[in-house]
Amino acid sequence: MGELNIGLIGAGLIGRTHSIAYRMVKGFFTEKTKEVSLKVLAEENEEAARNGAANLGFDEWTADYRELLARKDIRLVIVAVPNYKHKEIVLEAIKHGKHVLCEKPLAMNAPDAKQIFDAAEKAGITHGIGFNYRKAPAVLLIKRWVDNGMFGDIVSYRSSFIQDWGIDENGPLSWRFQKKLAGSGSLGDLGSHAIDMARFLIGEVSEVVGTVSTHVHKRPISTGGLGHKQDTGTAEYGKVDVDDICDVLMEFENGAQGGMVSSRLAPGRKNHFEFEVYGTKAGVFFDWERPNEVLFSSVDMPGDQSGFNRILVGGFQHPYGENLWPIPGMGIGFAEPFAVQLFEMIDAVLNERKASPGFYDGWKVNQVLDAIESSVKKRAWCKV
Ligand SMILES: NC(=O)c1ccc[n+]([C@@H]2O[C@H](COP(=O)([O-])OP(=O)(O)OC[C@H]3O[C@@H](n4cnc5c(N)ncnc54)[C@H](O)[C@@H]3O)[C@@H](O)[C@H]2O)c1
Repeated sequence: MGELNIGLIGAGLIGRTHSIAYRMVKGFFTEKTKEVSLKVLAEENEEAARNGAANLGFDEWTADYRELLARKDIRLVIVAVPNYKHKEIVLEAIKHGKHVLCEKPLAMNAPDAKQIFDAAEKAGITHGIGFNYRKAPAVLLIKRWVDNGMFGDIVSYRSSFIQDWGIDENGPLSWRFQKKLAGSGSLGDLGSHAIDMARFLIGEVSEVVGTVSTHVHKRPISTGGLGHKQDTGTAEYGKVDVDDICDVLMEFENGAQGGMVSSRLAPGRKNHFEFEVYGTKAGVFFDWERPNEVLFSSVDMPGDQSGFNRILVGGFQHPYGENLWPIPGMGIGFAEPFAVQLFEMIDAVLNERKASPGFYDGWKVNQVLDAIESSVKKRAWCKV
C-alpha cells in the first residue's frame, strides 16, 4: 500500500492506546500495512521518553517533539498530549507538512480549533481527530442504518457519558481538573464524544442550554494522570475549576431534539457511554459497556415482536466484520475502534484522501462546547 512512518507524541493513557492500536492494525489489516511503521516516540522529558519507548516498544525516542516533527522520514503524527498543548504541537506539525491525527477535543475553544482547521486545509495535509467511539463496528452499523433511512425522520437523540473515577477526592489535581490545561471538565472530556456522536448520527446542533456543577473543589497537587489513590498525608491541595457534571438540552438544525449528560461522579458507572436515537420508523440503543450489542426496534415489526431486539455485532455483514475477529461473539474492546481509526487514517494518507472525522468535525464540536459554556454562564439557551 506504500511506505509510511508514524511518530507518536505523548505516551500517557491514550498514547499507549494508540500504540496498542498500531499493533492491532498490523494484525487486522496485514496486507495493506506491510510498509507502515510506528517509528519514534516523543515525550515531555528524557525519563518519560526513555521509559515510554521501552514500555511501548519503540526503538527511537526524543524528549523534544520538535525534533520528531523535523524528521523527513516521519509522514504521519499522532498527537496524544493534554488539551492545552494540541494547538502548539499540531500547528508546528502542519508547518512541517506532516499529516496529523490529533486527540479530542481539538482545541481549548472554537476560534483556536478554526485556526488549526484552516492551517491544515491550507497546507493540504490529511487530518483526523480522535473521536474513536464512532469507529466501533456497532456504531458504524447504526450510522449505515441512519444513512439508509431506516429510522425515517429522526426526532430525538439522548446520550450520557458518565464515569465514577472523579468521586475519589484524593485523586490528584491532574491537568484534567484545571481549566487552563483542559478547557473544561467532564464536558470537554466525555461530553465532546457525546456531541460528536450526535453530529455523526443526527446532524448539526443549532442551539443548547446547559447546567454544570463541581462537587470536589480541591484535590492534592500531583502530576498523575487519572484519579488514582495516593498518600495524601502531606500533600498540598489545589483548586478544581472545571465541571464534574454537565447536563445539556440540544436542538438540531433538522428539527430533532435531544440531550446529553457527562459526569465523573457517577458511582457504579465505569465507562458508560450510551446513546439512543429515535425516528418515525425505528429506534436504537447503544451502550459502550456492551460494545458489541445494538438494541433495535422498528415500527414494522409485528406487534408481538415489538420492542428492542438485541443484535450481536461482528458478523461479516457488519462494518469491519471481515477484518476484525472472524466470529461475531468474539467481540471488541477499547482498542479495536482505535485500530479502525488508525487504519482509516493510514489509508487516507496513502491514498491522498480526506480522513473522517477530521479537524472540521473537531472545530464543530468545539463550537458546541463553547455554546454550552456560554449558556451555563448566561443561564439561557445559546445558538451554536
Ligand atoms: N479518545 C479517547 O477516548 C481519549 C481518552 C482519554 C484521553 N483522550 C485525550 O488524549 C489526550 C491525552 O490524554 P491522556 O489521557 O493520554 O493524558 P495523560 O496525562 O495520561 O498523558 C499525556 C502524556 O502527554 C505527555 N506530554 C505532555 N506534554 C508533552 C510534550 N510537550 N511532548 C511530548 N509529550 C508530552 C505527558 O508527559 C503524558 O505522558 C487528551 O487530549 C485527552 O483529552 C482521549
